[in-house]
Amino acid sequence: SRRVVVLGIETSCDDTAAAVVTEGGEVLGEAILSSVDLQAKWGGVVPALAQQAHVEAIDKVVGDTMASAGLRPEDLSAVAVTIGPGLSLCLKVGVLKAREVAHEGGVPLVPVHHMEAHATVARMLCHAGGESLEFPFLALLVSGGHNLLVLVEGLGRYKILGTTLDDAVGEAYDKVARLLGLDLSRGGGPAVEALALRGDASAFDFPVPLKNSRDKAKNCDFSFAGLKTSVRTAVERTIGLPSAGPGDRGPEIGQSEQLRADIAASFQRVAVEHLCLRTRTAVSWARQTHPEIKSIVVAGGVAANKVLRANLESLAADLDMDLVCPPPRYCTDNGVMVAWAGLERLRSGVGVGAVPESAKPAEG
Ligand code: KG4
Ligand code: ZN
Repeated sequence: SRRVVVLGIETSCDDTAAAVVTEGGEVLGEAILSSVDLQAKWGGVVPALAQQAHVEAIDKVVGDTMASAGLRPEDLSAVAVTIGPGLSLCLKVGVLKAREVAHEGGVPLVPVHHMEAHATVARMLCHAGGESLEFPFLALLVSGGHNLLVLVEGLGRYKILGTTLDDAVGEAYDKVARLLGLDLSRGGGPAVEALALRGDASAFDFPVPLKNSRDKAKNCDFSFAGLKTSVRTAVERTIGLPSAGPGDRGPEIGQSEQLRADIAASFQRVAVEHLCLRTRTAVSWARQTHPEIKSIVVAGGVAANKVLRANLESLAADLDMDLVCPPPRYCTDNGVMVAWAGLERLRSGVGVGAVPESAKPAEG
């Protein structure tokens, strides 16, 4: 029998990633190079630098992926690539490479939406685990650039129930990490999460965003700018901003360490509560049109956060729903999710025109 095998390429932000996935959800090869270290030095993603990093990494990442899968371009059924949203300079690097491999193999190119990939990879993992995740489901997509509650009715069929009015939660984590002067080389989120473990989450009474807005029962939107400002004010008042000179730092080291941990924990408590309250509202919305809905998928880089996962677990249990939470490496940007989203699109023909007919399945 012939099996469908898809190469996925992801270059929308600071990771250059690729993977080869089969229709059974088996990952045949996978590689990723991150420029987050480089970006940290500049205090954020600089598009031209990120592009340069992708250019330097792309051939190796795709080459390693294909080599570990033991495949040549002509063995593929298709090449899937993230076409957005993301930094256009960066996306272009992936698209050019994908076009090259697709051309070499004489196979179709499947354009993939980054957030669709984050949401649908959960279906692959359920499938590989002998279970199934059926449409419709609710997806909470939380990353550095996105903060969405999406009712996923089917492939390419989404209703956005809520989005952020300002920052995404990952961005808020990154900014808080910077305000607290944390090491950003592994990303701001993990640094804040680690510091928060040693803090008292009730030490600072930061207001939960939009909690008092008049339409709170109906609103699924997010806001993190105010929370970030609360954190900034707390840092200024207690320990001083990291840029302040040594003389202005306020309390001595031991005390300031505890304060920083308390601020991190308090920020995280409020951020997580905000995400959970909105998710609860989104479930009640979704149930009005889709009473059968039974799963909440959480994806994106922030879904790696253990406190968020634990709180969403209890929310889901309370609502009599399942929480589907990919392992952390499939929550952050990766090639597998793009390959899988491409595979689903290829299989169903959604958004790829006549591709299924012209696809060249590999011998399996
Ligand atoms: O999905 P992703 O890898 O890239 C995009 O932004 O598309 O998400 C990266 C974001 C960063 O803002 C990072 O700080 C955040 O996810 N993040 C976390 C954690 N791990 C990554 N935020 C909170 N807790 C974590 N453990
Ligand atoms: Zn992402």
